Amino acid sequence: MNDRIYMSSPDIGEAEKAAVRAAMDSGWIAPLGPDVEGFEQDLAARVGAAHGVALSSGTAALHLGLLGLGVGPGDVVVTSSMTFAATANAIVYTGATPVFIDSDLATGNMDVALLNEALNTLAAEGTPAKAIVPVDLLGKAVDYTVIEALAHQHGIPVLADAAESLGATHGGRAAGSFGAASIVSFNGNKIMTTSGGGMLLTDDEALAQRTRYLATQARQPVAHYEHVDIGYNYRLSNLLAALGRAQLVRLDEMIARRRARRAEYAALFADVGGVEIFGGDGAEDNCWLTSIVVDERAHFAPAELQAYLAERSIESRALWKPMHLQPVFADRRAFVNGNAQRLFETGLTLPSGSALTDKQFARVTGAVREFLAAR
Ligand SMILES: Cc1ncc(COP(=O)(O)O)c(C=O)c1O
Repeated sequence: MNDRIYMSSPDIGEAEKAAVRAAMDSGWIAPLGPDVEGFEQDLAARVGAAHGVALSSGTAALHLGLLGLGVGPGDVVVTSSMTFAATANAIVYTGATPVFIDSDLATGNMDVALLNEALNTLAAEGTPAKAIVPVDLLGKAVDYTVIEALAHQHGIPVLADAAESLGATHGGRAAGSFGAASIVSFNGNKIMTTSGGGMLLTDDEALAQRTRYLATQARQPVAHYEHVDIGYNYRLSNLLAALGRAQLVRLDEMIARRRARRAEYAALFADVGGVEIFGGDGAEDNCWLTSIVVDERAHFAPAELQAYLAERSIESRALWKPMHLQPVFADRRAFVNGNAQRLFETGLTLPSGSALTDKQFARVTGAVREFLAAR
């Protein structure tokens, strides 16, 4: 690897390497095997869900979760505008149409007043939403207390996109345990990784079984190949599940490292006018990524700091560009208050990974200090 500093690179140690080697030695080199089942049980137990279905990505988990909730062509699914495109793409894969909800300014998460307005408007128009997909932005769980109550009131299921929030809690309850089902991601940049992978977590046994069935090409349980549904090849390999199990053992340690970096960033920017740590101290967050929000009172624009860091081989990036501003979704409906756009324009995510060494982090803070001193 080079000396470039990334926002969130994989944090892999000897335990993970030993786990993958042991899985290889066991001969289970396939998308099934004891580590897949073990990983499902370990993670479901960690978040307090009855079932886990390990899949090839968080996107696959979203896709199958939506199908499992009966979402299909002609349906409308309400989701957060401020998210990674995968959330909205998975809705489109089913043939349904996403309707985007703007953000709460403090957290970037779905604004619950706008969500209520959208659910009422869609119902009044005769096209009630088929599902609600809230997104836990950058590791902060949405206000599930309010969202689940609204969903219940409207009789609409929630599929929680907890891709970024594994290890976070809301009201003391683990992200990944909310809604009819939740999904998490183990992409290489996430809080823990299987290089690529995801999981659907649910208390609903029928939904878990349906997801497992669709993820394995919808094979009927007979001796020959028999199919009555269109299936997908979405299962996680046993080797990657072994990696996931070893990472899960270290999850709390990795969260603690990210939390400590957030505290160091908070100290670094404490006296800088117009700059705040996005989402605050985030006591219940997993601190996956730490971002700053730079308002008009600051003596610099976030893009200037980003360019300064880039020249020094340090990665930083704007928050997600809202889906309702993406060309590919320009014709989709959105309930907008301007907050997601404002966060996109004023936010900057900084290197936050648990694999960052003290030396690398000192390079980041040193560069930020130099930049600020020159303003
Ligand atoms: C909010 C959100 N949803 C879904 C995904 C998709 O997960 P994956 O990359 O595992 O498909 C990601 C991350 O990549 C994400 O950040």
